[in-house]
Amino acid sequence: MTESSNASTAGGPPSPTGRPATEPAVEAATASNGAGRARQSAVYLAGVMGRMPSVPVSYPRLVSAAKRAMSKEAFAYVAGSAGLETTATANRRAFAKHRIVPRVLRDVASRDLGVDLLGRRRATPFYLAPIGVLDLAHPDADTAAAKVAARLGIPIALSTQASTPMEEVTRAAPAASAWFQLYWSSSRELTESLVHRAEAAGCEALLVTLDTHLLGWRPRDLDLGYLPFAHGRGIAQYTSDPVFMHLVEQRAAAPRQGARPKATMSGLRALVEMSSRTPGPLTRNLRSPIPRAAVETFLDVFADPTLTWSDLTWLRSITTLPIVLKGILHAEDARAAVEAGADALIVSNHGGRQVDGAVAALDALPAVLEAVAGRMPVLFDSGVRSGADAFVALALGAAAVGIGRPWVYGLAAGGETGAREVLQNLVAEFDITMALAGARTVADIDRSTLAGG
Ligand code: FNR
Repeated sequence: MTESSNASTAGGPPSPTGRPATEPAVEAATASNGAGRARQSAVYLAGVMGRMPSVPVSYPRLVSAAKRAMSKEAFAYVAGSAGLETTATANRRAFAKHRIVPRVLRDVASRDLGVDLLGRRRATPFYLAPIGVLDLAHPDADTAAAKVAARLGIPIALSTQASTPMEEVTRAAPAASAWFQLYWSSSRELTESLVHRAEAAGCEALLVTLDTHLLGWRPRDLDLGYLPFAHGRGIAQYTSDPVFMHLVEQRAAAPRQGARPKATMSGLRALVEMSSRTPGPLTRNLRSPIPRAAVETFLDVFADPTLTWSDLTWLRSITTLPIVLKGILHAEDARAAVEAGADALIVSNHGGRQVDGAVAALDALPAVLEAVAGRMPVLFDSGVRSGADAFVALALGAAAVGIGRPWVYGLAAGGETGAREVLQNLVAEFDITMALAGARTVADIDRSTLAGG
């Protein structure tokens, strides 16, 4: 960035984990009083008693509150995008090109925000996009996010770059519908281990992110010389992995190449940071080569830029989880995804964090949908900031809408409560937009609800 509803009670197909096939109703929703009105009433009635929302509802104010709560490095990492950040700007501008045309006199008293997605009925069309290094926003990080997701009945994608191992997160929030986002490592054994851990931890789908086999060129982070992973942050899925730790031990045992860097205060601080994030007692880690070897090993094996479409056959052979390809922007890639047997795809440009000057994700959506021609669900993220934005993405044909930075800012500004309120506000505004646009169900939100549609 430059910067009701009556949640359906309809049962869906059985879940792969054996949990109930229907998500719990969105908390604020009741049959007679939709999510939108419920949230509005809660906020206005609390206001009568002098209590304000715990984080700002207005998006620019939310960003400011998060900025105040975060270190400058943390804010730069979350808010920053690639290059001149024109892709992030384009993501926002693309929404402004589409205008909703409200319809009237359609009895919208009762609304259903539910959708069928990846084998289950969901209370809303939203999901929490995968976000790495959440402890930059708040120490409760992934666990807080998963608890919010569980409470609101919104699926969450757990990142490969998480601050907390996936097993710990799914244990802390067993009711959450969790997906695992995979960064495909150059170590096949590690990739396989991550996938099997995700299955064992109860994750219901694999989101394979294809647009980040290299980190984008991010001037905000470069100007601060700050990459969280180099400080041992955001590598908890790795340091909790037996295959990864075996690679680390091998590296630590090998004779050190090159001269030792001169000790500096920030170098020492980084060593303490790395050591405190490596499993085991801090005093032992401080004297051990393991924390530094873990960071170096991570930087070596993080991604595999040699991958091609044919490698997906191997991934398919090692898991029965649905495979969702994240980061598709071209119609030909969408067709290749169908041919490769993917179960779904996500139109996303990673929130503008990878390629500056890239097509806005929303602008790429129609051509991808045309290429897919209904053969698999097409999810969407990048630039969604409001319930009305979600409405537009769904009207263009998205099957579900991923929320990224907004809830991270909520987490930074107000912890678990802040993240929850941001998502409740999004669901509430979406519900109200549906009602005022004349849509009773998500299926009613089609191109005809947009100007020129
Ligand atoms: C991300 N995103 C991301 N995607 C992914 O597949 N794995 C990851 O670990 C991360 N990590 C991450 C960290 C931060 C701080 C941000 C902001 C984003 C991308 C994310 O899933 C999603 O595609 C974008 O956030 C969508 O853009 P907006 O709507 O947040 O601008």
